[in-house]
Amino acid sequence: MNSLVILISGRGSNMQALLEAGIPKDRITVISNNPEAEGIGFAKKCNVETIILDHRSYPDREIFDRALAEKIDACQPKLIALAGFMRILSDSFVQRYQGRLMNIHPSLLPAFPGLKTHARALQEGIKIHGCTVHFVTPRLDHGPIVIQAAIPVLPHDTEASLAARVLLQEHRIYPQAVQWFMEDRIRLDGNRVEVMACVTHDAAVYSPGLSE
Ligand code: GAR
Repeated sequence: MNSLVILISGRGSNMQALLEAGIPKDRITVISNNPEAEGIGFAKKCNVETIILDHRSYPDREIFDRALAEKIDACQPKLIALAGFMRILSDSFVQRYQGRLMNIHPSLLPAFPGLKTHARALQEGIKIHGCTVHFVTPRLDHGPIVIQAAIPVLPHDTEASLAARVLLQEHRIYPQAVQWFMEDRIRLDGNRVEVMACVTHDAAVYSPGLSE
């Protein structure tokens, strides 16, 4: 019951960051709904157990989610981490793992849930962007927030440059959140998450910076 299941659909860079977070590899299982997911190759190279569960082989979402839950339950994980898992999960699936299902999202939630977060951030002209690790609830990209990282949007940013800088931060905050959870340092109080014995800052982030 001290293990981790990581769900992916594609590249798997957040999965890689989680594999390097210090959890013994024999306590991790990676499951992909996409047989072509690049991340599967990396997980195999690390000798991590991998499972492919192609959603296209199942008649509907509920039946796929039930099959997925069966695979997950066989691992008896302490935590299930969505790492670029690009499928909407049914309410019954989410409720089954309430409080132990985490997600990483490339925006400062609750701003920009859904897809194309960086393009939408640029379009809105926001000055501070970032990423969020949160517990999953039935409402898409919504739920108690564990940690966020904020970065300035720079004048010449493109969708690609912004995505790359946010991704660097994703790779820092997701392993941290997972480590806190595995160490039982996370306390949920309604929609608020308390992390026990962590460093807190009260410094403001300015974007653009203030004149000297
Ligand atoms: C990441 O940026 C992750 O935050 C995002 O997909 C990307 C997956 O990349 N997830 C979502 O948008 C979920 N709503 P990765 O496969 O390299 O980790």
